Amino acid sequence: MKEELLELRQKADKDLKELRLPEDIERFRVKYLGRKGLLSEFLSRIPSLPQEERPVIGRLANEIKVDISKRFEETTRALGEKQPRTTIPIQDVSLPGRTPPIGHRHPLIQTIGDIKDIFARMGFQVAFGPEVELEYYNFEALNIPLDHPSRDDFDTFYLDDEVLLRSQTSTVQIRVMQRQKPPIRIIAPGKVFRPDTVDARHSFMFHQIEGLMVDEGVNFAHLKGVLTLFARAYFGPDTRMRFRPSFFPFTEPSAEVEISCTLCKGRGCSVCGSTGWLEILGAGMVHPNVFKAVGYDAEKYTGFAFGMGIERIAMLKYGIDDIRLFFENDIRFLSQF
Ligand code: DAH
Repeated sequence: MKEELLELRQKADKDLKELRLPEDIERFRVKYLGRKGLLSEFLSRIPSLPQEERPVIGRLANEIKVDISKRFEETTRALGEKQPRTTIPIQDVSLPGRTPPIGHRHPLIQTIGDIKDIFARMGFQVAFGPEVELEYYNFEALNIPLDHPSRDDFDTFYLDDEVLLRSQTSTVQIRVMQRQKPPIRIIAPGKVFRPDTVDARHSFMFHQIEGLMVDEGVNFAHLKGVLTLFARAYFGPDTRMRFRPSFFPFTEPSAEVEISCTLCKGRGCSVCGSTGWLEILGAGMVHPNVFKAVGYDAEKYTGFAFGMGIERIAMLKYGIDDIRLFFENDIRFLSQF
């Protein structure tokens, strides 16, 4: 037993001297000092020795184990210090950091902001109304009674008999006039909802901006002036406009407003259907019945209103051909704005 131990120590000594690489160090540790290594194995055999030999062999075995461990540690430390310094990874602290991607406002919100800025310069304030709305504000107060056929034009999501998701921002006209007296000059941006099948031009949810100006002596020329200023500021100073007679229950007279095509400048192309014109909004002089609904004196006050679809405006300005792009959260699309 004793010879065996001394032999083990000799072999360990020799192996220790040959240690060079990190792999060798670990292999040595496992072979001699590991839980299943040679020394552990030796110690585990001691209990089966004759009684009188046990203390002597045991002591010697422990001494050898402590000795090998100590010299193993010294050797590894010495080897570690000899490692060339270049193996430590170099951090170049002068390199620029990695910039985390930074988001920005959605193109529709940017469009609303641009439109707001233009009307703000003409003294319009921003007003809001609820998206979940009473039927009264979406229809009745806007001169669209229950049996009126034009209700079909504003196809609607009903939540119950009287509550619905608003199908137009014209509702905000009523809410504003109910709580304040003329003069009024507001625009009202927001979401509207219609049960349309989704395709390149339709979405069950989209955005509108409503406009309303009411005071004594407001006339159609004011409407034309305000909208012309808006169109030139937003689409460019060369933009031409035309007003075509139309019908909306809440305005009389009513007009559809068109601008010269942003793409072909009026010559005719596929975007404007070869007409040279693009419809951008509906407008008109506020119907006396609407004033009656909010308790205004229609003999004293007149006003104009208009409403436009924001997606459509943005699509025309930026040449976007599919409304769904706004709602798909595709970074490749959004990061272009
Ligand atoms: N609310 C109309 C729509 O959704 C748009 C509109 C037309 C608004 C004429 C107006 C207006 O204020 O005067 O189709």
